[in-house]
Amino acid sequence: MNISKRFFTISNPTHIFLRLLQQKVDQTIQLDPRRDYLRLHANNKTYDFHYFWLRHNCNAVPQSRHPLTNERIVDCAHISLDLPPTSVKLIEENSKVEVQWPPNYITIAPICKNSSSSLVDSHTSTYSIDWLISNAYAVDRIDNVQPDYGDIRKVEIDYKNYINNNNLNDYFRDCYQRLKQYGLVVVRNRGLDTETVIRDFLPDNCHVFESHFGVIEDLRTDNKTNKNTDQLGYTNSAVDLHTDQPFIDNPPGMQMLQCIQKADIGGDNHLVNSHKAALYLREINPEAFYLLSTVAVKFHRKQKQFESLHVGPIIELEENGNDIKKVRHSYFTFATFQYPFWLMNSFYKAYQAYSTILKDEKYTFNVLLESGDFLLYDNYRMLHARKEFQGERFMRGIYFNHEQVWTKLEFEMNKK
Ligand SMILES: [Fe+2]
Repeated sequence: MNISKRFFTISNPTHIFLRLLQQKVDQTIQLDPRRDYLRLHANNKTYDFHYFWLRHNCNAVPQSRHPLTNERIVDCAHISLDLPPTSVKLIEENSKVEVQWPPNYITIAPICKNSSSSLVDSHTSTYSIDWLISNAYAVDRIDNVQPDYGDIRKVEIDYKNYINNNNLNDYFRDCYQRLKQYGLVVVRNRGLDTETVIRDFLPDNCHVFESHFGVIEDLRTDNKTNKNTDQLGYTNSAVDLHTDQPFIDNPPGMQMLQCIQKADIGGDNHLVNSHKAALYLREINPEAFYLLSTVAVKFHRKQKQFESLHVGPIIELEENGNDIKKVRHSYFTFATFQYPFWLMNSFYKAYQAYSTILKDEKYTFNVLLESGDFLLYDNYRMLHARKEFQGERFMRGIYFNHEQVWTKLEFEMNKK
């Protein structure tokens, strides 16, 4: 398949047929054997295959298939899960992969001992590239996923710099890029006029997301302006990592926290990327990821005059079963877990494994807002927390719809 380019190298490739043909043969096949799996590069994609899966799908006769019936004779219960093969290479003009297995890659099943057909595994398997691609289960997989290191300098900008340089396009572009890449932006010195700050992120004729607290939350201990303030956010207590409004079916996509007055002591915010933490969990503890993305949790908010319930997993996947759609994580709105006895221990372990990543300080963005600063973050991707505080801390909370924020920022950053 990897026909050398030299057959089709033309100095002036104007002939459309030859150009198309050249593009086709340029699709190189390469192998990248890793410790635990084989990565195949083909057609500008990557395909990952565990070695034990390859061994399980070997069709060699008589090592893997019966010489008379061609039925599988290897039970994958007896395949090594952690031995690498002896060698892996491309053969037959890169149309096949050849894998050499070490002795005892599979053990002999007790019932087969003393059998005349040997299952002792020291042989060569071959797989056609076409067969591998058509049976692939990990295409363009991202490996070595880790959450971003929480360095506030990556997400912090100063509004004064844009005003002084008369360049608001860049202001909106920098907000957009930080929100897209990291899930949050911290803007210094934007001012105290909440309506003006909101307008930067809201298209004309659109409205902010109204919650059971009202349109704009006044997050202060002596709140007199909102409804349903009987919850942690309106105290001076610490609030650990959480998603806002997980107990409604469609939580707000983004939240802005505008600092009107900072606390005398404490009140810092902490944020972590829950999507990247979940992908990292999937790499290092797939069983925990599976439980957290399939076992439903009841998010139940019950206040004096408000009640809402949402039932769903903490890690919500897209319909393709692979990409993460949103994370809901809110320890203070969990209803009582009532899982079967056999599941309870595993579920708690999975939850704690995820929390260990989420609460690793190196992944945490620490933000202390001063009066006139604001923080805007993606409520589906970022968990946020607040330290306990003393003093008359006053923050304003405003919820936005995702698409409206993207639309407005794209409009402003490209404005002539
Ligand atoms: Fe919150």
